[in-house]
Amino acid sequence: MAKQIKTIGILTSGGDAPGMNAAIRAVVRTAINKGLKVKGIQKGYNGLINEEIIDMDKRSVADIIQRGGTILYTARCAEFRTAEGQQRGAEICRKHGIDGLVVIGGDGSFAGAQKLANLGINTIGIPGTIDLDIACTEYTIGFDTAVNTAMEAIDKVRDTSTSHERCSIIEVMGRGAGWLALWCGIANGAEDVLIPEKYDYDEQKLINNIIESRKMGKKHHIIINAEGIGHSQAMATRIEAATGIETRATILGHMQRGGSPTCKDRVYASMMGAMAVDLLLEGKKIGAQVGTTGMFRAEKVPGAKVVTFANAAETFLEFQNGGVDAVIQDFPVVAYYVAQGGNKGRLVGPKMEAEEYGIAVTKGNKELVAQINKALASLKKSGEFQRIYKKWFGEEN
Ligand code: ADP
Ligand code: F6P
Repeated sequence: MAKQIKTIGILTSGGDAPGMNAAIRAVVRTAINKGLKVKGIQKGYNGLINEEIIDMDKRSVADIIQRGGTILYTARCAEFRTAEGQQRGAEICRKHGIDGLVVIGGDGSFAGAQKLANLGINTIGIPGTIDLDIACTEYTIGFDTAVNTAMEAIDKVRDTSTSHERCSIIEVMGRGAGWLALWCGIANGAEDVLIPEKYDYDEQKLINNIIESRKMGKKHHIIINAEGIGHSQAMATRIEAATGIETRATILGHMQRGGSPTCKDRVYASMMGAMAVDLLLEGKKIGAQVGTTGMFRAEKVPGAKVVTFANAAETFLEFQNGGVDAVIQDFPVVAYYVAQGGNKGRLVGPKMEAEEYGIAVTKGNKELVAQINKALASLKKSGEFQRIYKKWFGEEN
């Protein structure tokens, strides 16, 4: 029987992002409406390890949907990168009766959440980062607000840049990802955009562009530089020396992470928060190959959701990626997967009783039946039948 969730824990981790509060509010209110208790873990994995845990009720999340930052605070935690730190985190969850955990954060926080899940803590991640750099989603909470904040700031820099006929290098956040720079580049109509994903940065070409644009009468030259490339001040000094055009560097910095979330961030964060609770309550997912005895067995597991796949390879791939919690397959196939070192897989539980196999033949085709029986008898006599059986079913016939 899938374990009944009674208490949910929630934490925010890594860089804060506008809309995290809306997600916290949705998790807390959805959980309470479904009869669950909620424990707020403060300061990310740091607070988990140090047991900075508070009880939350509906009022704890009043008046926060419009506020930037995170009421649970956030932190980076070096200790949680170690196996000991992760073990301690899992122990604290168990000690506080937390049987489902929601982690709101970026890709680093997700890596931590995966570690807790591997240690048996039922964990759901909600993507929350202004960097938009989480795999398998085109939306992360906070990006919309941050990109609008940056866009408005760049418009302002552009005004003064035009008045003074200057060149401006404006650096936006994003760590190793260039999404904020790329979106601003388009939305602000920048002359150049520099992002870490594009490795053909050619400063001489950039300088030539500025000189050409000035000849054509352009009053400003806006370059959006991603944090992942950086060195904006040094770049500005070199460009000014090479072009003779006054060049200023502006690093927008942490103002991009704050402020009231946009409508999109509030709504999507609310939807994700509610869904995280629903997913925790849904119970475990079992993967099985469609139409197999494994699938029929999985359907009998109380409280579990069965997800089917066309073949064994797809089933195990999903398991490997964390999309299903367990797989029911033929014994030799599972044994093979585990023997290959399949990440977190291990054989559990007793084997099912023997399956019945048959060979279908056209009704009345006595001649074919006789031939098949003859072939089977000969295979059994030579020992070949037993050899094949052992190879595929791992035991003597
Ligand atoms: P973000 O979640 O915004 O990407 P970080 O990359 O700083 O921010 O990660 C936040 C925290 O997540 C880290 O301080 C650390 O505690 C945890 N974390 C990051 N990577 C891992 C990892 N590989 N294993 C365990 N925990 C991790
Ligand atoms: O991940 C969000 C982010 O703002 C990145 O864009 C930036 O590189 C980083 O966090 C800065 O982090 P902090 O100032 O908190 O060290």
